[in-house]
Amino acid sequence: MKIAIMGAMPEEIAPILEKLGSYKTTEFAKNKYYEASYRGIELVIAYSKIGKVFSTLTATTMIEHFGAELLLFSGVAGAVSPELKVGDLVVASKLSQHDLDITAFGHPFGYVPEGAVYVQADMKLIELSKEVALEMDKNVKEGIIATGDQFVANEERKNWIGNTFNADALEMEGGSVAVVCDALNVPFFILRAISDAADMDASFSFDEFLETSAVESAEFVMKMVDKIVNKTI
Ligand code: ADE
Repeated sequence: MKIAIMGAMPEEIAPILEKLGSYKTTEFAKNKYYEASYRGIELVIAYSKIGKVFSTLTATTMIEHFGAELLLFSGVAGAVSPELKVGDLVVASKLSQHDLDITAFGHPFGYVPEGAVYVQADMKLIELSKEVALEMDKNVKEGIIATGDQFVANEERKNWIGNTFNADALEMEGGSVAVVCDALNVPFFILRAISDAADMDASFSFDEFLETSAVESAEFVMKMVDKIVNKTI
C-alpha cells in the first residue's frame, strides 16, 4: 500500500517530515518528492506550490509516477462558514472550482461540459476521519470546500463563493486534486485547518496562523494514516 500525503506549501508538510525523521528525496518535474516507509506501508510526500495548476501536476505525479493508491491532503483554508474559527478542522465532503466560469454559454459557475460542479471525496475516508476525530477528541466539520486561483481577502467575494457553492471553506488546491483523483480512480481525502476568515484581515491572519494551523491538520492526517495502517494489518 502506498499513500500520498500532499500539501501546497512547505509549512503544510514540514510537521509530517519531522515526524518521519528520515526519508528519500527525489526530484521530478521541478519538484521534490519525499519517500519513506512508515509502519509497514510506503508514503510519498510533497508540497505542490500554490494553486490549481501546480497541485494538479503534483497529484498526478504522485499517482502516475510514484504509484500512490490513496491521497491525503493536509493544509490550511479560509473560513466561509461563520461557525469556523482559526484552528478548526474541515473535512471536504465535496469540492468545486469557484473561479471556473463559462456562464456566458448558459452553464452554472464551476461547470464545464463533461465535468461536474462538485467532486465527491471518498466516503470511507470521511467515515474513518470521524473515528479519528472521536479518538482525538476534536471537533471536525464536514463541509463543502471551494477552490480557486485567488487568495480571497474580501468579504463580498467570500460571501459570493459561500452562496454560489454552499461552501464552508475556501482554498487554492483541493478542487483540482479532487478532479485528478476522481479521474484516476484514487480515493482521496482533503483536510484543512482554518488560518483566516477570507476577509480584509485574511493576509495578516494567514501569516500569523499558517504554521500552527498546518500542524493541527498534519497531526490529524498522520492519525488517519495510523488508522488506515491499523485497518490493513
Ligand atoms: N488558504 C488559506 N486562506 C485562504 C484564503 N483566504 N484564500 C485562498 N486560499 C486560502
